Amino acid sequence: MDITQLGYIGLGVSDLPAWERFATEFVGTPISERGADGTLYLRMDEYHHRIALVPSGEDDLLYAGWMVPNPAALECVAKRLCEAGLAVEESTPEQARQRHVRRFIAATDTSGLRHEVYVGGYVLPRSPFQASRPMVSFKADDYGLGHVVLRVPDQKAAEAFYTNLLGLRLTDYGSGRIAFLHCNRRHHSVAVGEVPGGPKCLIHLMLEVNTLDELGTAYDVAEQRGVPLLKTIGKHPNDHMVSFYVETPSGFELEYGFGAREVDDATWVLQSYERGDVWGHKPIARGAAD
Ligand SMILES: [Fe+2]
Repeated sequence: MDITQLGYIGLGVSDLPAWERFATEFVGTPISERGADGTLYLRMDEYHHRIALVPSGEDDLLYAGWMVPNPAALECVAKRLCEAGLAVEESTPEQARQRHVRRFIAATDTSGLRHEVYVGGYVLPRSPFQASRPMVSFKADDYGLGHVVLRVPDQKAAEAFYTNLLGLRLTDYGSGRIAFLHCNRRHHSVAVGEVPGGPKCLIHLMLEVNTLDELGTAYDVAEQRGVPLLKTIGKHPNDHMVSFYVETPSGFELEYGFGAREVDDATWVLQSYERGDVWGHKPIARGAAD
């Protein structure tokens, strides 16, 4: 039994009001709760939240939450982390309440990123998902929230952590030996590479919608709201995602996507890709659209 999805993330942000506008007016993610510490919880589906915006100022990824289907799977991952010599901490009831899950274990990887492996995410059955602007839904649910692309100091060590300890599977390699890894049919839930331009860990966060019209509408909304575009609409060669990139209020990129192909582990063959996109994704200099 292994991890089945990237279930939640925590983002440390410095400008919470700007993030609230960005999330609700452009992205389409409604706020499910305002925490006592100021944290904003963003919904994408039936779960209480998928993204926590923590007003701690890092403007980076604080933690990644990985879902397992049951307590036995949680013990299995915890055992692998312990046997690898990592310090594994068990959530307190208060910590689990904050994450809106039944229970989690946490460990820090070789890059310094905190990973939480959890069971029993809270759903909101009396409050069906309703986007914060006119759109229908995100491709989340069993696929998890989307994907994150991370800058790591040692790509081989990161790849070993995700495959050997968390139990993710390699999907393919991109240029510069970026490794793309999956834990369900989503092409990748995380990608790791020794990408220059640090020190921030999070390069981009990708959220996916279910129709081309929702992608195109988001593109229009970005323009109407003055959200800075960083890459025009284009298509990636490995996951076949059609997407565009904008700058978040934290500086890292948000990829808004549609139509990625899915992985079938029974038939998937790992390939490597050279630099370049199938079409589009023309970079736009930061500040150029102002
Ligand atoms: Fe991406």
